[in-house]
Amino acid sequence: MPAITDKSRHLDDWFVSDIQFNLLYPPSMQALARMHWTPLAVIKSAAEFLATRDGSRILDIGSGVGKFCLSASYYQPNALFAGVEQRNNLVGHAVAARSTLGLRNVSFVAANFTQLDFSHYDHFYFYNSFFENLGDADRIDDSIQYSSSLYHYYSNYLRRELGKMPAGTRIVTYCSWQDEIPPSYELVQTDLDGLLKYNVKTRD
Ligand SMILES: C[S@@+](CC[C@H](N)C(=O)[O-])C[C@H]1O[C@@H](n2cnc3c(N)ncnc32)[C@H](O)[C@@H]1O
Repeated sequence: MPAITDKSRHLDDWFVSDIQFNLLYPPSMQALARMHWTPLAVIKSAAEFLATRDGSRILDIGSGVGKFCLSASYYQPNALFAGVEQRNNLVGHAVAARSTLGLRNVSFVAANFTQLDFSHYDHFYFYNSFFENLGDADRIDDSIQYSSSLYHYYSNYLRRELGKMPAGTRIVTYCSWQDEIPPSYELVQTDLDGLLKYNVKTRD
């Protein structure tokens, strides 16, 4: 089914189910949803954990077509969500979906996450974005170079940046081995048989 771009549709109707939400995107992106875009139930719970106060700034590291940021900004309208994504075409789909939904507390940047200043954010979300670099990964496309050394480079880079954040910083990971979480973070809760992990930095 083609993407629905009807702005007169009531906002709540998009969030009735994952199937409804995914209709924001063209068929090629809908086909990637099961494997690559976070389910709404996970987003709702993660967003609630991450939005610790009004105006919390939350970054999705590897935001794809924007499903996490768009849905989280709907569930937590008083927090600010940003997505960074290395594939320009996916950012284009995210921006188009934001326009259809009319959400204002969400933004997207087309970049490698290593180009961002982490101090501009309070908390983070991470859906195992670097996994595509490993040999047996189910990949989005062939538009970029993959390598296991990139997996390690990105995981180490992210671990270092998270380590510099102040105590109280939160990160939710989904389907991750937590290679990127420094020992200064405490795993405070898990859900979905350990697929969903809630971490808080407990010391500087
Ligand atoms: C599994 S998808 C998750 C998408 C989104 N966070 C969600 O939960 O719906 C991971 C995304 O991370 C992006 N990604 C991987 N490495 C990245 C990097 N170094 N910088 C920016 N984006 C990256 C991929 O292009 C992909 O779109």
